[in-house]
Amino acid sequence: MRALVTQPGVTGSTRVADVPDATGDGVLVRMLEVGVCGTDREISHGLFGVAPENESELVLGHEALGTVERDGHGFTRGDLVTATVRRSCRHCLACSEGFPDSCLTGDYVERGITRLNGFACELVVEDPAQLVAIPRSLGRLGVLAEPTSICERALRHARAIGNRHPWELQRALVLGAGAVGTLSTYLLRLAGLEVWTASLEPSNDLVTASGARYVSLPGTQLSELGGFDLVVEAAGDAQLMADTLGLLRRSGVACLLGIDPLEQRVELDGRTLALDAILENRVLFGSVNAAREDWLAAVADLDRARERWPDELEQFVSLRVPLDRFEDAFAHQGGKATLVISD
Ligand code: BGC
Repeated sequence: MRALVTQPGVTGSTRVADVPDATGDGVLVRMLEVGVCGTDREISHGLFGVAPENESELVLGHEALGTVERDGHGFTRGDLVTATVRRSCRHCLACSEGFPDSCLTGDYVERGITRLNGFACELVVEDPAQLVAIPRSLGRLGVLAEPTSICERALRHARAIGNRHPWELQRALVLGAGAVGTLSTYLLRLAGLEVWTASLEPSNDLVTASGARYVSLPGTQLSELGGFDLVVEAAGDAQLMADTLGLLRRSGVACLLGIDPLEQRVELDGRTLALDAILENRVLFGSVNAAREDWLAAVADLDRARERWPDELEQFVSLRVPLDRFEDAFAHQGGKATLVISD
């Protein structure tokens, strides 16, 4: 079968290749579409990713939407499904309790990223316990479940941290308006918060349609917007990440989601760190991946968002191309790109 493969560590090695058919126990899933994100681009640039044991190439793709091929394991032929990305290391407390997103060893595997082939291929055999049902009403928007699960996990953790003491989550700032920033904006608007979203473009209709306020970063002093209870960094800029601590108000929580792999030093004002953060009980934390409960929340909230903002949700994926046009998808800026494998 055809698959999008890459040789981790080797820049420019990504190609469409013939790979052996899917075998083994589990649910046979025909892949419809996979989303492309910054992690796929990094792997393709040779900066990240590990091939499965004893193999030199890795099948890419971790934002999956597929359809079940035959009845069984509680699924019916034709059911729409997605699947989790990270799988248990099998020897830590967090993984044994069903939270590989909080793995304590780093020995986990991740579909399409670390030691486990991904979903950018025609057929996959998947463990039924790792599948997540996509409601018919969501249809092709189900391809957004994975990035949404990342946002759900971040917001669940932010709330857990904030709720360690009496706290009111009212004003949120989202930095970055890529898929994760925009989906975070939509989730926070669904929860009824006052949301400000900042990015580089002069304007952003998807953001403003959700009822959030859009801030064009060049020329804006973020500190002039007033303090926030929650700041989500989804721009992947280490300096912006350090700045988030200074944008919080009392008991505020800053969550880092974007990744910035550059070797660099960033500046942090001494009084922000050593005075305000302490006297105002502020927290800065990072979040990766998602637990099953976040996937279920993601699917439910995406469907609620679709009901409330149907036209906007349809615009989330701004480029859909077949597998062999993966270079266009990887080069695409200004919205989510997906690879269509089957109609
Ligand atoms: C994926 C996560 C994964 C992380 C680190 C992200 O792009 O969405 O599921 O845990 O990369 O590999």
